[in-house]
Amino acid sequence: MLEKINQTADFLRSKVTDMPKIAIILGTGLGPIVDHMEDKQYIPYGEIPNFPVSTVEGHSGNLIFGRLGDKRVIAMQGRFHYYEGYDMKAVTFPVRVFKALGVETLFVSNASGGMNKEFVVGDVMTITDHINLFPEHPLRGKNYNELGTRFPAMTNAYDKELMALADKIAEENGIRLMHGVYVGVTGPTFETPAEYEFYRVIGGDCVGMSTVPEVIVANHAGMRVYGISVITDLGGKDVTQVPTHEEVQQAALIAQPKCLTIMKELVNRC
Ligand code: HPA
Repeated sequence: MLEKINQTADFLRSKVTDMPKIAIILGTGLGPIVDHMEDKQYIPYGEIPNFPVSTVEGHSGNLIFGRLGDKRVIAMQGRFHYYEGYDMKAVTFPVRVFKALGVETLFVSNASGGMNKEFVVGDVMTITDHINLFPEHPLRGKNYNELGTRFPAMTNAYDKELMALADKIAEENGIRLMHGVYVGVTGPTFETPAEYEFYRVIGGDCVGMSTVPEVIVANHAGMRVYGISVITDLGGKDVTQVPTHEEVQQAALIAQPKCLTIMKELVNRC
């Protein structure tokens, strides 16, 4: 694993001169953030040694090096989902590579279904914590001490200072920014009403099919993390509206300007 990480990092170093210290994983429907980046250098996943190739609709599959405001960033356009069939080592491989490149802060965005009764579709939520319900753990197996400790704490998986900064930015810009716990599940089915209810009862505010593996590995690697979730649909015992992939993408696009403002400012001020 170490050899693969280093090989991929070496390849990227040979292509990119000014290596960013910030990486952003762009989730469903949030790809347009790339339009606000400048001096862009696209590297398709297919050209990157050891990188899995993304297949899901709406994800293009590029690492994009460039500038968001004044800061150099790596944007990951298209992520690897567990439901696509990748194992957790593949899902989290890019995060390992980011760390090897010197990235210190990871921003993640995703789409999720809201269980919190105060949420409305199109809301954006700072992920304050998560509940990992994936059946495979990304750190299972041999631990490489060079990468991180065997038993990493997850007490502050999401950086409190970045959360506070996001709140400040939201307030300055009149954005309703919710807080909540993200429940990470395999998918690809959306939840039954009983499942949404179950996830709410155990302490979740929203549920989605990504992010948790990457955040665990980023923490293992000692990176700071900020996560934002777009509430694209609502679920619960009394919700009869059926979520579809298209509606999820549509709602994510509506929330995109809010996400963009928060992300851009966070990147600039972090
Ligand atoms: N459940 C799981 N994942 C999701 C949802 C949902 O309702 N909406 C967007 N991603």
